[in-house]
Amino acid sequence: MNLLEGQDVTVHFNVHGGVIKAVDLVNFALPQGQIVGIVGESGSGKSTFARVLAGIQIPTSGSVSYLGKPIQDGKITYKGDLRQAVQMVFQDPYGSLNPRMRIIKAVAEAVRQHQNVEKAEAKEIAQKLLESMGISALDSRKYPSALSGGQRQRASVARALSAQPKILIADEPTSAIDQSAQAQLLGLFNELIKNGLSIVLVSHDLGVIRYLSDYVYVMKDGKFVEEGKTEEIFNNPKEEYTKKLISSIPGHKSH
Ligand SMILES: Nc1ncnc2c1ncn2[C@@H]1O[C@H](COP(=O)(O)OP(=O)(O)O)[C@@H](O)[C@H]1O
Ligand SMILES: [Mg+2]
Repeated sequence: MNLLEGQDVTVHFNVHGGVIKAVDLVNFALPQGQIVGIVGESGSGKSTFARVLAGIQIPTSGSVSYLGKPIQDGKITYKGDLRQAVQMVFQDPYGSLNPRMRIIKAVAEAVRQHQNVEKAEAKEIAQKLLESMGISALDSRKYPSALSGGQRQRASVARALSAQPKILIADEPTSAIDQSAQAQLLGLFNELIKNGLSIVLVSHDLGVIRYLSDYVYVMKDGKFVEEGKTEEIFNNPKEEYTKKLISSIPGHKSH
């Protein structure tokens, strides 16, 4: 059984003068232990769909299920134990890190929020999480503004992991950081998969998607126009749109 599934998910936004179909009848599956990528140009609906999976955005129609059960129960999304199961990280980690709080404290508070532990133990757990994300004890005592973009992004992943999630939804996690920081983050994602996490990776960057994903959905104008195993998508794209995206990868040679 798939860990997470989306069935006919549709999101309409009413804006004056009309309706935007940001997500239009999308079907999606995240099998246990995999990284599934969603790729597409800016404005194609990736973030909106990711927010539906995370339970932040209520779909206009369609549904999401976790291990076969709808995540929506009346007005409540991800009830009870499920609340921690799915965590999201964003392109701009400033959003999830309080600028006036040292990193270690921010993560320790998140640990306390999700795990039933005393302050001192929460701090220890936080320190371990941060270290596993490559942030030293010294750096973890800094404020977010004193960290590099890559460190900040890894700290926000550490904060998300404090909930001991089963699924991480990462929306453009590498977009705001430089190449070497990207490589480091991608390596850490691979480690997380080995430890049993499943990941939804949203990116407009095909290089990132290709490197990490087992399976890829290609999104355009709110729809998935193509999907398949990563190597199939990249070696033998069927849709013109996918071919165009691939040929726009820097360093790509067309033959
Ligand atoms: N809260 C909102 N209100 C109105 N329109 C929105 C809202 N959020 C997103 N959109 C629109 O939905 C479409 C998809 O946006 P988004 O999901 O952010 O795409 P992506 O992440 O692929 O860049 C865009 O046309 C965007 O302007
Ligand atoms: Mg987006």
